[in-house]
Amino acid sequence: MNSKADAQRMEKIVSLCKRRGFIFQSSEIYGGLNGAWDYGPLGVELKRNLKNYWWRVMVHERDDVVGMDGSILMNRAVWKASGHEDTFTDPMVDSLLTGKRFRADQIEPQKGTVYYYSGAFSVTEDYWPALQEMGTASPLFKVVTEDLPIPSPSKEPIRFKHEEPLDPLASEIVKSFDAPAYELLKNKIYPVVFLVLIPAGKPPESARKIAREFYQKRGLTRPVLIGERKEAINTDSPLSRLFDPESGALVSKPQSFNLMFKTFVGAAEDESSLTYLRPETAQAIFVQFKNVLEVSRKKLPFGIAQIGKAFRNEINPRNFTFRSREFEQMELEYFCRAEQGMELLEYWKEERLEFYENIGIPRSRLHVLTVPDAERAFYSKGTYDIEYDFPFGRQELEGVAYRTDYDLSQHQKASGKSLEYFDEETKQKFIPHVVEPSAGVDRTVLALICEAYSEDEAPDEKGKMETRIVLRFHPRMAPIKCAVFPLLKNKEPLVAKAKEIVDLLRPHMNVFYDESGAIGRRYRRQDEIGTPFGITVDFETLGEKDPGLLHTVTLRDRDSMKQERLAIKDLADILNSRIA
Ligand code: GAP
Repeated sequence: MNSKADAQRMEKIVSLCKRRGFIFQSSEIYGGLNGAWDYGPLGVELKRNLKNYWWRVMVHERDDVVGMDGSILMNRAVWKASGHEDTFTDPMVDSLLTGKRFRADQIEPQKGTVYYYSGAFSVTEDYWPALQEMGTASPLFKVVTEDLPIPSPSKEPIRFKHEEPLDPLASEIVKSFDAPAYELLKNKIYPVVFLVLIPAGKPPESARKIAREFYQKRGLTRPVLIGERKEAINTDSPLSRLFDPESGALVSKPQSFNLMFKTFVGAAEDESSLTYLRPETAQAIFVQFKNVLEVSRKKLPFGIAQIGKAFRNEINPRNFTFRSREFEQMELEYFCRAEQGMELLEYWKEERLEFYENIGIPRSRLHVLTVPDAERAFYSKGTYDIEYDFPFGRQELEGVAYRTDYDLSQHQKASGKSLEYFDEETKQKFIPHVVEPSAGVDRTVLALICEAYSEDEAPDEKGKMETRIVLRFHPRMAPIKCAVFPLLKNKEPLVAKAKEIVDLLRPHMNVFYDESGAIGRRYRRQDEIGTPFGITVDFETLGEKDPGLLHTVTLRDRDSMKQERLAIKDLADILNSRIA
């Protein structure tokens, strides 16, 4: 989080999402399932509006893109050929104290005081007689009875490599500290190195407590720490990313962790039936490239679009729905000639930025990151990340990547089936290249909610100013477009007219009817869920005050709170033009 205010804002957003039915924790009544979320009645509408608009812009409004809907389960050979089986991994580390798992590359560099221990030995009951015999003057007696560590004679800067977790000096340190004690303990020394990072200024005892816990977990009953030394480090130290950010304990060596969820197809549960839940929708497009090309009769450049679920066993799902284990993607694979690749990469980056602006995310809050060569997939000739300023920091919404001909070539090689394109004009056959804008549905929904959330001041029933929570969704995205209210619920002609208006508008948009509570309260409830328009049927509508106003209603704008008087017969056209 950037600041306390951002953290508070995020908390309010999460709480509003639950309170008003946008997003719930999956399996909540059983304690939830980490990384999985359910969309409630309003969340599902918002998500649909987003997906429908993406489909409209990316497929329906273009001549050069067709859609498809691939299966989530595919032949395992797809994931072997695409490289996912071998390389779709994240580096993962475990806290050596709590076992909690972290993505190594997501551990921020930390600073503070590092305490180093060469190992420990355990003081068990059977040592006591010998220890007492040595007498209170023995240095060992003091460290055991006062729970102190044996200091290290070394003043060298601390170096640590996971490849060398044993410290041969552990025995030497005990020997030079207390030779008679060494004789007693020499076969009991556990020379496994442990490091702990504590914030500067904290007493050494807090580091020792963590270190003792580490050795206890490895079977040492009452550990005496050997070879304690300390060093202050800054975030540029090579040690700075080696510690569990929660406990300060050393983490394990990074290991590759494949993010794909395994599953078995059919009755047998062995290697022969193994496959994966797809980690991206794109591969279905590549393996169906030939079929779609034949049926659509498209010429290069052309694209195949798809929206669907993807699954990744993320090590640390976090930031609400931002990093989930089950999520949806909106992907376009835009096939082209090799020489068009870089130009189309630029083209799609601009198209996609415009898309976000058209759903209410201003350009000023979007950022384009040119992914550096070293971080790009080896087959990609250029990748942009479109990022958004979430309250928890600037994070990726979408990747736009020029993937060359890598995917189709891999599948052609592995399947033995031609995935070539025949150019009628030049009579040449070749494997097309591809540019891929790949957006996350859930991340964009979250960005829409974060962008829309605002608080302002509005008068209550008695004219007193109160805080108003408003979701300022673009009308195109708003879950409910229009709320219809009879001024009073016990006046039958008002109710009947309001219901008539609901029936009139329902074929055009998602409408909500509400007759309960004071009108101001009803407006507030709609403001909080982002309904852009409110229609009130009052006595003027019935022609009771001014016959000129018969069959007119007030239309209230959520953001300005201004009201205009409109004829009922014009409502559908006016509202349609404002939400299109
Ligand atoms: N086919 C390319 C591809 O999958 P990606 O950058 O790994 O590329 C594309 O994913 C988009 O999918 C991301 O920009 C993000 O919006 C969304 N996404 C990826 N992992 C996600 C996760 N764990 N939770 C939510 N959305 C995710």
